[in-house]
Amino acid sequence: MNAPTAVSLLGLGEMGRALAGALLPGDHPVTVWNRTPGKAADLLSRGAVEAESAASAVDTAELIVVCLFDHASVHEILDPIVDRLRSRTVVNLTTTSPEQARELGRWAETAGIDYLDGGIMAVPSMIGNPGSEILYSGDESAFERFRPILDCWGTSSYFGEDAGLASLYDLALLAGMYVMFAGYMQGAALVATAGVSAADFAGRAAPWIAAMTGGLEEYGRVIDGGDYTVPGQQSLDFSDLSKMLEAAEEVGVGSRPIAMVQELISAQREAGHGPEAFARIYESVRRRD
Ligand SMILES: NC(=O)c1ccc[n+]([C@@H]2O[C@H](COP(=O)([O-])OP(=O)(O)OC[C@H]3O[C@@H](n4cnc5c(N)ncnc54)[C@H](OP(=O)(O)O)[C@@H]3O)[C@@H](O)[C@H]2O)c1
Repeated sequence: MNAPTAVSLLGLGEMGRALAGALLPGDHPVTVWNRTPGKAADLLSRGAVEAESAASAVDTAELIVVCLFDHASVHEILDPIVDRLRSRTVVNLTTTSPEQARELGRWAETAGIDYLDGGIMAVPSMIGNPGSEILYSGDESAFERFRPILDCWGTSSYFGEDAGLASLYDLALLAGMYVMFAGYMQGAALVATAGVSAADFAGRAAPWIAAMTGGLEEYGRVIDGGDYTVPGQQSLDFSDLSKMLEAAEEVGVGSRPIAMVQELISAQREAGHGPEAFARIYESVRRRD
């Protein structure tokens, strides 16, 4: 891709502004539009052009980037201008469920639009900086064609033609993150009863949790192998979290994060798998036991 590509960005919330801003140092003309006017001042001073409507924003662009609130708002804005989008590429970075992303993929195909769905693994301040990654799925040729532009936001990772895959990975990674954060907060509530600040505990928890992530690959091998009796694994019986629940009770704090894990362990132990590997709790999640 040698000639500059005209890019339009629909949606100037926190994330949309960061995405537009990261494109401005490049050669590509950037047009922006937001439902509520008045959010583009900084971008305009840096070279962006503001469109009066989503329709006029689309007319000037080869690549249309959408970063709105949710799936419904994407249809609300794009449905009325679907004919104008024909033969153009839409990259939708709005968070949706995998099925919603697939629905948008089918909608785009019917309308003759090249569609890429994206999951942003970053907060706005990270966009264009190290550590930012955006996951993509959908039209592979669009991903390859516009990759130099996508790379302005961070690492661009492509998962396949199924438009729902980026969202699936995005939500799966966020699931791991939120449960990890809840675990930190459980620990912070425990040590707070001894006068330890949450910030102090964070300093101790971060390297510990980071070191423990080294075990994920081994869990993955055990789960994929499907044999939870392989030697060298910590057993479900050994992984009993009763002591943690007792400690929370003793000091008078809640225990829902550890209770959730204990519930998964108990389900497998009650089914007779106590001597097998801790990774077996995966089966309770997979089968919705
Ligand atoms: N912020 C993050 O850290 C982050 C990280 C990853 C992914 N994301 C995703 O990025 C997307 C945007 O997030 P954000 O942080 O920019 O949110 P935000 O600051 O709340 O902005 C929401 C944007 O959506 C627009 N919008 C909402 N409902 C609309 C509708 N019915 N029709 C047209 N426009 C509508 C808003 O326009 P108005 O100004 O007119 O209200 C605004 O431009 C979300 O899907 C979010 O999940 C955000």
